[in-house]
Amino acid sequence: MGVTASAPAKVILFGEHFVVYGEPAIVLAIDRRAYAKTEKRSDKLLHLRSTNLNLSAIIQNGNFKVEQGDLKEARMKFEPVELAVKRILEKYGENVGLDIEITSTVPVGAGLGSSAAVVAAVATSVGALLDIQMSKEDIFKITCEAEKAVHGTPSGVDPAISTFGGALLFQMDTGFKPLEVKTDIPLVIGDTGVERSTRVQVEKVKEITEKYPQIIEPVMLAAREIVLRAMDACKKNELETLGELMNLNHALLHAVGVSDESLEWLINAAKKAGALGAKLTGAGGGGCMIALAENEKLRGVLEAIQSAGGRPFIARKTDEGARIERD
Ligand code: MEV
Repeated sequence: MGVTASAPAKVILFGEHFVVYGEPAIVLAIDRRAYAKTEKRSDKLLHLRSTNLNLSAIIQNGNFKVEQGDLKEARMKFEPVELAVKRILEKYGENVGLDIEITSTVPVGAGLGSSAAVVAAVATSVGALLDIQMSKEDIFKITCEAEKAVHGTPSGVDPAISTFGGALLFQMDTGFKPLEVKTDIPLVIGDTGVERSTRVQVEKVKEITEKYPQIIEPVMLAAREIVLRAMDACKKNELETLGELMNLNHALLHAVGVSDESLEWLINAAKKAGALGAKLTGAGGGGCMIALAENEKLRGVLEAIQSAGGRPFIARKTDEGARIERD
């Protein structure tokens, strides 16, 4: 008998990249989830299979034997999962083989935290199968460790939102605080289809920050001010202000070099179709953008993003973080 668990993807509404330097960020869990079904094996091996990616591998002491797909891709996608499972087994003194099947509705490598959602879902299902009392905090820590080691997502914002769900104000030194969000925040997410690495994008910002510290410092301060004002606008349900703040936030991200042509194209299309604001979300350099629009304009914005070559969908906030699914 197996146990299935799931965890949500996320969008960063405000503050990506600057969050790595200690500034606050506002993050929403969205109604796209990753699922993991775990079963015990009769041997001591770890077998991972991703139905969406058509990848499957047996892993023993860090050695990958690929059954389906490409070795490089299997390593890239499965390493954080393997690391998280290893940590759980070591920490809780278990020595079992596991079969884990991953199914996800989250676009991969697109800035929606698909990797953290998968790891949080796997950690939750492994914990439940082995009857380990793991708190949400434990799941967050294990997901964070695995993500940091493999993907270079230094802030921990993705693991936090996939584990806890809802809307969070996240800051590296103070952690996360649930955020009061009165409005429904009607969003269209547009996937550029351009896959990129978070690690590379984070490195770009580091380079420009080290090269021009006096120029980037006020950019960081502006990013902080945007988040503070956005918190207030979320509470008061001021969509127009939120849209303006998104535009400002995107301009700062553009300044530090993490936008690209594919994102600019979709962002312009969304604005022309009447979006109140639009910005890249997550690491940038491709991946996804988000557009905020009044409910009656959502459809038009979605169609404009599609005509501009993006893959759009409407996203809703979800309050549920990592959870066990009842089969
Ligand atoms: C990635 O989803 C968000 C970044 O800010 C990196 C991080 O916070 O770890 C780009």
